[in-house]
Amino acid sequence: MNQVRQEFTTPQTQENRDQVKADPNRLAYHLMPPVGWLNDPNGLCQFNGTYHIFYQYTPGNPTGADHRGWGHYTTKDFIHYQEENDTFVPDQFGDHRGSYSGSALIHDGVMHLFYTGNNKLEGDYDYINEGRIHWVMHSSSKDGLHFTPKEVLLENKDYPQNLSCHVRDPKVIPYNNSFYMVLGARTKDSCGQAEIFKSSNLHDWTHASTITPTTRFGYMWECPDLIELDGRLFLFTCPQGVDQEGYNYEAKYQNGYFELDRNLDADQQVGPFHEQDHGFDFYAPQSFIDQSGRRISIGWMGIPDVDYTKPTIQQNWQHALTLPRLLTLNENKIYQYPIVEIENLRNTHTHIDVQENTVYTPGSIVCELQIKPLSSTWTIHLRKDCTLSYDGKLFTFTLGASGYGRGSHHIEVDAIDSLSIWSDTSSLEIFINKGEYALTTQLFDDEKELHFSSDQAMDLDFYSYNHFEICEKIEKEDPTLA
Ligand code: FRU
Repeated sequence: MNQVRQEFTTPQTQENRDQVKADPNRLAYHLMPPVGWLNDPNGLCQFNGTYHIFYQYTPGNPTGADHRGWGHYTTKDFIHYQEENDTFVPDQFGDHRGSYSGSALIHDGVMHLFYTGNNKLEGDYDYINEGRIHWVMHSSSKDGLHFTPKEVLLENKDYPQNLSCHVRDPKVIPYNNSFYMVLGARTKDSCGQAEIFKSSNLHDWTHASTITPTTRFGYMWECPDLIELDGRLFLFTCPQGVDQEGYNYEAKYQNGYFELDRNLDADQQVGPFHEQDHGFDFYAPQSFIDQSGRRISIGWMGIPDVDYTKPTIQQNWQHALTLPRLLTLNENKIYQYPIVEIENLRNTHTHIDVQENTVYTPGSIVCELQIKPLSSTWTIHLRKDCTLSYDGKLFTFTLGASGYGRGSHHIEVDAIDSLSIWSDTSSLEIFINKGEYALTTQLFDDEKELHFSSDQAMDLDFYSYNHFEICEKIEKEDPTLA
């Protein structure tokens, strides 16, 4: 094993892993780091039947302070997982300060991975307009486990001249008989936008167009994604620096989408922006099309730069990935809902005709709840101190002490026919109207049994859940091909 790989891998001692495993907040059916810090999902794809889920990973530090590489899980069924060797350990000039986010493209039986190499030059720089390297790097694999040496595809000098050094998170798609890459960018005068590059061979890339908002929308757009649904094209991205407007944009940084014109060879202005998930812990989602044609999106259950406290840091880990969600276009709205495989985790089922102001404890907090309100206004109390309420116009979700500073978020909704909630030891994913709206959060309440009550009668289907099965990685070989 080479030295850099060894330094990156060393913190993953059995003792550290055991500490994470013993944490009661450890998630039962969400992917989390084996030890240390996790952020964005990367390189999502299905390759020869196996799903690959890479992610931003800092095994040595649960605060994420050290350099990122890519962690890697594989699965065939989204229930049983194999932890694979870490990939893209930062080991060269182009990615010395981190192998940042990127994506996968399967072409001619080969998995191509594109990511951002991040480096900071020594010196007195602001690291926004000078002193920072954000290059597009590429590597490929014939088996999804062993990777060719990294190569640099684009350097900062190849980007439009009005951009700052912050140009990152390549997502590559086949489109109109060509390949297109979208990159998130910050201009020198701090406007967020997306840049499109084009290639016929995945190696040589030329700038094709720029996507800007109709009026300034934040200072930086991170993690862009180009998504086709029913013949329409959307740009998903995570704008930073957008001010809250009423109940919109309550999160620290945003996540959501713009509809695009289908011609990616011409500059375009886009708007309005639609939020994807209204929660406290959702960011940097990435999507892929699987071999059965489904558009699946996975998000980072976390968000940067917030001041909520994270008790799991003391147990040597932080953050998780959301459940995989199927994206579908429903008239003009993109719905998201956990993929059907997740139902295979269902264990016991209890149907309850909920009577008003009665506390029910149907089983474990590791569960799925399907709720049908029977009135147009209601308040639900869930677990130790979560409140979900609807007044006929506004949905409000509030966390008490278990939110460690998260507070309340709101969604304006015309009518709520159903609520679907996936509850894990330290997370909740809430879907309104089977995916019309979503809200994801972490919470830490030390509960074991679920408590549920409502001030109105409602129907509740409760499913206790089995846990994921995750095999730890066994071989420690260097996955870089000689
Ligand atoms: C988003 C992000 C990306 C970057 C990565 C670094 O969370 O800031 O823009 O590539 O995280 O870990």
